[in-house]
Parts: sequence; structure tokens; C-alpha cells
Amino acid sequence: MDRQAPYLREMGLVRWRFGSGGGGRSGPEPDSLASGTHVGGGDENPGLLSLAEQARRCERCELHRTRGEVVFGSGSPGARWFFVGEAPGAEEDKQGVPFVGRAGALLSAMLFGIGLSRESVYIANVLKCRPPNNRDPFGIEVQECSPFLHAQIDLIQPQIIVAMGRFAAQALLNSAESLSQLRGKAHQYRLNQLPLVVTYHPAYLLRSPAAKSKTWEDLVLAQSLLA
Ligand code: URA
Repeated sequence: MDRQAPYLREMGLVRWRFGSGGGGRSGPEPDSLASGTHVGGGDENPGLLSLAEQARRCERCELHRTRGEVVFGSGSPGARWFFVGEAPGAEEDKQGVPFVGRAGALLSAMLFGIGLSRESVYIANVLKCRPPNNRDPFGIEVQECSPFLHAQIDLIQPQIIVAMGRFAAQALLNSAESLSQLRGKAHQYRLNQLPLVVTYHPAYLLRSPAAKSKTWEDLVLAQSLLA
């Protein structure tokens, strides 16, 4: 049997089209962060390293008092695909890595289904610190933390963003519309022509597997928008 089959079963997919893949790329090095922080030259993505260090020391909101690890992001610093979730959960808070729990296993399966790997894409959350008891993020937390996300996008310069769930979609699009209003179409991130697709959060898919086929449609849409 095809080695992808278990992943596709996990996604609830029987028929699928294997994508063109989407490994990393090496992009131009940005001169500065949106925040004005200096970014030096060097290998890989030094601006991202410096931003991660800022996040590690961040005390902009109350979540720093209860967090374990800061969960900055993971993946390729030159990724074409940038996936955005909501906030770290308990396991992520322990390990300092996004999407390592059950939702993360499903995300890995979704990536594999379109010919991607966790290493070739970039994965981050709107919030870098875990809200206690996995409560929804507060507006002030999104407001204080989202500059990190915008700077990550500026530094990585991906070619497509996939916003998973309402919080990611609303934060990235600066919108108050519901997930069902936002998904199923191509958006533009800021004014820089970067395509953005909204889809369901993997944790929601664990509770509502019937939505997996719509998620698959969203990922196929995202793939079609890649240059
Ligand atoms: N849910 C998220 O939104 N992010 C994670 O990192 C884990 C679960």
C-alpha cells in the first residue's frame, strides 16, 4: 500500500491529488524588522533568531507569568508555506515547539497529504505563550503578541499563508468576520500580494472530522495560489 495512505486515512481522504511539493527556499535577507529592530547579515535567517530571543524574554502581557516555554515557531526559515495556529497548548508549553500534541499529529498528516513536511514549512501561532487552561486568547494578548507574528512573516517571506482557525484568520486579516465567512476564498495578507487561505484549526477537526474534506479543499486552493 502507498505509504501516504495512513496519513490520508487520518485526514479522512480517499481521493486526493498529490501536489507539486513545496520545500524551502532561500529568500533575500530583510534589512530590518517591522518593529525597527536591527537585523544583521549572516547565514540562515539571523533576524529570525534575534526575534526569537526577543520573544523568549517578552513580558508584554500577563501570559509570561504562567508560561512554561515560549513557543516561537518551528520549521524552515526560508519556507514557502507559513501555517498559523492559535496558541500553545500544554504539550507545546512544555516542549517549546508548536503543534506537538494531537492537533499537531493531524497537522503533520495534512502537510504530508499535500506533499509537505513540517521541516519544509514554517509553523507558528498568534500567541507565543500558553493561555492558562487553554482558554481563548484575550484581545489584549493578541494585540501585544501579533507583532511577533507579523515580523516572522516579514522575515521568512513565505509565498502563501494558511491561517488555521478563527483567531489566526482574524488576527492576520484584521477582520471580525467568522471562520465560515472567511474560509473558502483567497485573501491577501496586508497589501503585499501575499496570498492567504483560511481553514479550520486541526483541534476543531479532531472534534468535527466531517470538516476534513473542506480543509482539504482549502489546502488545494492554497496550492493553486502558489506561484
Ligand atoms: N493549537 C495551536 O493553535 N497551536 C499549537 O501549537 C498547538 C495547538
